[in-house]
Amino acid sequence: MEFRPSQNNGVDSWKEVNLIYNSALKEIGTKLEILNDEFLHVHRYNPIEHIKSRIKSPESIVKKLKKNGYESTIENMVKHVNDIAGIRVICSFTSDIYRIAEMLINQSDIKVISVKDYISNPKPSGYRSYHLIVTVPVFLSDRVVDTKVEIQIRTVAMDFWASLEHKIQYKFNMNVPEYIRSELVECAKMASELDARMLGLNEQVQQLALLDEEEQEEMIANHQKVV
Ligand code: GTP
Ligand code: MG
Repeated sequence: MEFRPSQNNGVDSWKEVNLIYNSALKEIGTKLEILNDEFLHVHRYNPIEHIKSRIKSPESIVKKLKKNGYESTIENMVKHVNDIAGIRVICSFTSDIYRIAEMLINQSDIKVISVKDYISNPKPSGYRSYHLIVTVPVFLSDRVVDTKVEIQIRTVAMDFWASLEHKIQYKFNMNVPEYIRSELVECAKMASELDARMLGLNEQVQQLALLDEEEQEEMIANHQKVV
């Protein structure tokens, strides 16, 4: 069931919305923590560096509705604003992003509304991240409400870039000078290369860890010869 406010009063309706979206954030947050814990148990490392979550402010919700030509009603916000509940998952490596996303999508109570892979297809700005809009059931005393959550999954490097770019956009009121814009695109490419090299490095170290001492020495010697 989609969310329908049970109260008529505006303030109480907003409180109810807030409660439901907050609960949805907790549900998704817990699922992610469980996946991270299990990963640590099975693979001996944490794919998730950290998780940030937020509820969109009423002002931002109203602004978004207005921008898209909708009246500010609870019904419209529930229907048309997909990022009222937002969770950002910061991973170590690009490969972890796809693993986490897949494990979450495969859970039987999660419904996928949309997937946007800005890692395979970065935005012209240089922005990279993996976006999911899902619904998760929130169990209340008398009903179950399928609630939308926007999940952004990215590496530390992608997050570093996106945070700075966001601040710059804000500073220039979305009119960023061309030379800064193109420098940002360059930085995004460098961040992407860094991600690829760090992933490669990690894979090499893991391969090395599978070998016995003699084989390790041989591999290290071979690499040093090449260099
Ligand atoms: P909104 O941008 O929220 O209206 O949604 P959308 O339907 O355009 O979806 P999209 O996937 O493009 O963006 C969703 C969210 O991703 C944004 O609200 C930002 O948090 C983030 N995002 C998308 N593009 C960029 C970008 O170029 N730079 C930064 N810093 N963040 C971005
Ligand atoms: Mg948004």
